Amino acid sequence: MSNTYPASDEFVADAHIDAAKYEEMYSASITDPDGFWREHGKRIDWIKPFTKVKNATFDFGNVDIKWFEDGTLNVSANCIDRHIVTRGEQTAIIWEPDDPKAPARHITYRELLEQTSRMANVLKEHGIRKGDRVVLYLPMIPEAAYAMLACARIGAVHSIVFAGFSPDALANRINDCQAKAVITADTAPRGGRRTALKSNADKALFDCSDKVKCLVVKHTGDQTTWVDGRDIDLKAEMAAASPYCPYTEVGAEDPLFILYTSGSTGRPKGVVHTSGGYLVYAAMTQQYVFDYHDGDVFWCTADVGWVTGHSYIIYGPLANGAITLMFEGVPTYPDAGRFWEVCAKHKVNQFYTAPTAIRALMGQGTEWVEKHDLSSLKLLGSVGEPINPEAWNWYNENVGKGRCPIVDTFWQTETGGHMITALPGAIPAKPGSATKPFFGVVPEILDPATAEVQTGTAAEGVLCIKESWPGQMRTVWGDHERFMETYFSQYKGYYFTGDGCRRDEDGDYWITGRVDDVINVSGHRMGTAEVESALVAHEAVAEAAVVGYPHDIKGQGIYAYVTLMNNVEPTEELRKDLVKWVRQEIGPIASPDLIQWAPGLPKTRSGKIMRRILRKIAEDDFGALGDTSTLADPSVVDELIDNRMNRA
Ligand code: PRX
Repeated sequence: MSNTYPASDEFVADAHIDAAKYEEMYSASITDPDGFWREHGKRIDWIKPFTKVKNATFDFGNVDIKWFEDGTLNVSANCIDRHIVTRGEQTAIIWEPDDPKAPARHITYRELLEQTSRMANVLKEHGIRKGDRVVLYLPMIPEAAYAMLACARIGAVHSIVFAGFSPDALANRINDCQAKAVITADTAPRGGRRTALKSNADKALFDCSDKVKCLVVKHTGDQTTWVDGRDIDLKAEMAAASPYCPYTEVGAEDPLFILYTSGSTGRPKGVVHTSGGYLVYAAMTQQYVFDYHDGDVFWCTADVGWVTGHSYIIYGPLANGAITLMFEGVPTYPDAGRFWEVCAKHKVNQFYTAPTAIRALMGQGTEWVEKHDLSSLKLLGSVGEPINPEAWNWYNENVGKGRCPIVDTFWQTETGGHMITALPGAIPAKPGSATKPFFGVVPEILDPATAEVQTGTAAEGVLCIKESWPGQMRTVWGDHERFMETYFSQYKGYYFTGDGCRRDEDGDYWITGRVDDVINVSGHRMGTAEVESALVAHEAVAEAAVVGYPHDIKGQGIYAYVTLMNNVEPTEELRKDLVKWVRQEIGPIASPDLIQWAPGLPKTRSGKIMRRILRKIAEDDFGALGDTSTLADPSVVDELIDNRMNRA
């Protein structure tokens, strides 16, 4: 039995959901999903109320997912306008800049309405209409929130590209969704340094249609090049635009956003989320999972470039009329106490971050935490990867002071919101386990080989979901076949998460990590195929195979086996050059941690690279290499072991 940590009686007494209520609501959500979601669908405002609730089939070949399909709404109105009467002067967004000496900003719901409206009017002036795509490539600044909500206001579809991605990655996404405009900023300050976003956008736009407009937020005032007729000074035009923009009525199933994410094969996929179901789900999970109460200050440290930022900085909290904190900087600037300084300064009540950040800060010692008053904290959250016991304990003892429940939330870009997580007043935390499913979520563990559902309480296998939930992605942008193939072809009748999972004797779920060729680096998803194709695009590289390996801080690191072209000498300089190359091709988050020169790669006689073996070598797990006799040349394995990089 693992240790469990129930919330205090005081916490439970005040919680939205206690144990009895969880049981009752969970059971209702499964036995009568239509009745359950008909009720909870009302938590948002509809222009035309829905009459239909769930209409979803996971049948391979016919996958079709719809929620609240005949209802109409506007997401921006739900996140702003409906709060104006009751909380117009309440802070919606607290913005904390990268530089701790610069003033923080408190943006009220009324100001949010005005700024969002102004930006929406500028977009309209430049021809952006309902259904058009707009790519956002922005720092963590209030304009990122305005831009998301401005798109939603006029029914345009945003696609945020994380500001750490390269010009190439940006161009690919602009082209894939055929965006009409890009919204960017001059430069992005982070950790005291500046990323030249506009200049990256300029490079990307070389490879895009010359009709694509570039709206630039002059954030730092740094010098940039300017293309007349294409580039637009967004702040100046906002200042001149009307401060109110009526919102556009959209269907529940009209797309709200596209977010590109890595898979096992090929280029990143455009995950499509729609308006009604997504908003209901993001808002409901934000309230219940974090036990958010009116007036609380909620801080999710993610970047809006990832789904966590979409659902838990912007849409979930704002739909609930919450106070949400947006942080431009990094946890270690100007020192390793920054997170805690910000918590103390803004009296944060719920704090939500990733294990990789906790591990990095843990390494800096407890004095950075002790310096700051964390008495406002009521709850802590974790997301993005399994949290190891050391990090859990450190978080619990030093940040939560043993009195804050910790919610370990398992979910994915594809799921829109939390899937498996403790509800803090109902389910005791169990370090390392995401514990129980959220309302409406039916997890099943399947045998990876036979696809048989594991019916015992204790079980191990791959994690699938049996029934649709409102926040589920609906399709891959422009490629429904790929959507079905990726998520519904392997285990018929189920949504396949790509994760391995164990269920213990208490029925609690433990996510054991990806079972496909996706690696999780610092809580960010990276496809090994993407890094490989970047490597082989270098003139010195003949072949490359990339796998993940355990990394103390990042969770997983990127390990690349590289075969060079004939006559190319493997040098330290080339190694550095390849790392730099991948950073340029994809972005810093894809930098290989280790590159091993591999004169040969283990291949079957038909030429398929046996990644299983490469993974084991990278993990230093030579006892478990398995059968190597089917290899075309088994001797390459010894060579790779002898020259491996990842030694203790
Ligand atoms: O492997 C799981 C891991 O992150 C993957 C999803 O990554 P992404 O789409 O980038 O979304 C991350 C934030 C929602 C999952 O397939 N993962 C996410 N949360 C957890 C997790 N693994 C274990 N425990 C978690 N709490």
